[in-house]
Amino acid sequence: MIQIPSGFDWQHWFHRWERMQERYLVDRAERFAVMIRMVRATQSSISRVLDLGCGPGSLMRQFLEAFPEAQVTGVDLDPMLLLLGRAQLTEFGMRAKLIETDLRDSSWLQLAPGPFDAMVSSTALHWLAPEQLSALYGRVAQVLRPGGIFLNADHVGSDSSLIQQAWEQHRDEMLATQVTNADDWNSFWDAYAQALGVNRDEIHRRLEAAYEGGVEQGLSLPWHFHTLKASGFRFVDCFWRGDCDAVYGGIFDDGDKTRFTHHETRNT
Ligand SMILES: C[S@@+](CC[C@H](N)C(=O)[O-])C[C@H]1O[C@@H](n2cnc3c(N)ncnc32)[C@H](O)[C@@H]1O
Repeated sequence: MIQIPSGFDWQHWFHRWERMQERYLVDRAERFAVMIRMVRATQSSISRVLDLGCGPGSLMRQFLEAFPEAQVTGVDLDPMLLLLGRAQLTEFGMRAKLIETDLRDSSWLQLAPGPFDAMVSSTALHWLAPEQLSALYGRVAQVLRPGGIFLNADHVGSDSSLIQQAWEQHRDEMLATQVTNADDWNSFWDAYAQALGVNRDEIHRRLEAAYEGGVEQGLSLPWHFHTLKASGFRFVDCFWRGDCDAVYGGIFDDGDKTRFTHHETRNT
């Protein structure tokens, strides 16, 4: 159990997390905006949202602000990020809920039972091995309301190393034009753990096994499309793309065609 030092400045650390993430993902805000737009476009009402691998609740905050009636739950494995999430989302009261659990198995289904109208994720699911991610898509389909939407903003790779290299080179050139004094990943973690008075290595060593088998560059969009369709998703698509990052997802279809008549009518 981490003892939080008195007067701990949560705002400061959440701000530093946000700047650190933007250092690597220049268009992070745009991805979040696209996700909210797609949820609005496809759902007539939103009362329950689940964020998979929520970290300190960055995307949860966006959804809580965009959908003032919605309850937003976040699940993650890292106790240090969940602490930050609980503190920075206090203003939303019971509408924000954070749960410590592992997405690699099915235990989160009991801790965060459906149905959800939207299930979202950002820069987290590439940490899972392909077979774990495939199983996760199947579980998402179990708890998403029929007609509900799944959206993931994440790294997506190419099966061609030449294409992958070209994407990464372009991304690195773009990142090099940024002037930023934001932390990098390691300096954020060292400073945050020191401020909390915990041993970062000790806590993260316990989590290391959870992060084995992930594909850092991300799997290809065709892989995601194929796997989502096999789990029962329709209108599977890429909604935004920049080099080796994308926002993709689909609508869960339980085979009730009248439901989609409704959505198709709304969208024309
Ligand atoms: C780069 S952070 C992104 C956090 C947040 N979504 C954001 O955009 O700021 C990746 C997150 O995925 C979480 N994660 C990775 N593997 C996980 C697993 N097996 N179960 C639950 N969370 C996991 C990590 O703990 C971490 O919080």
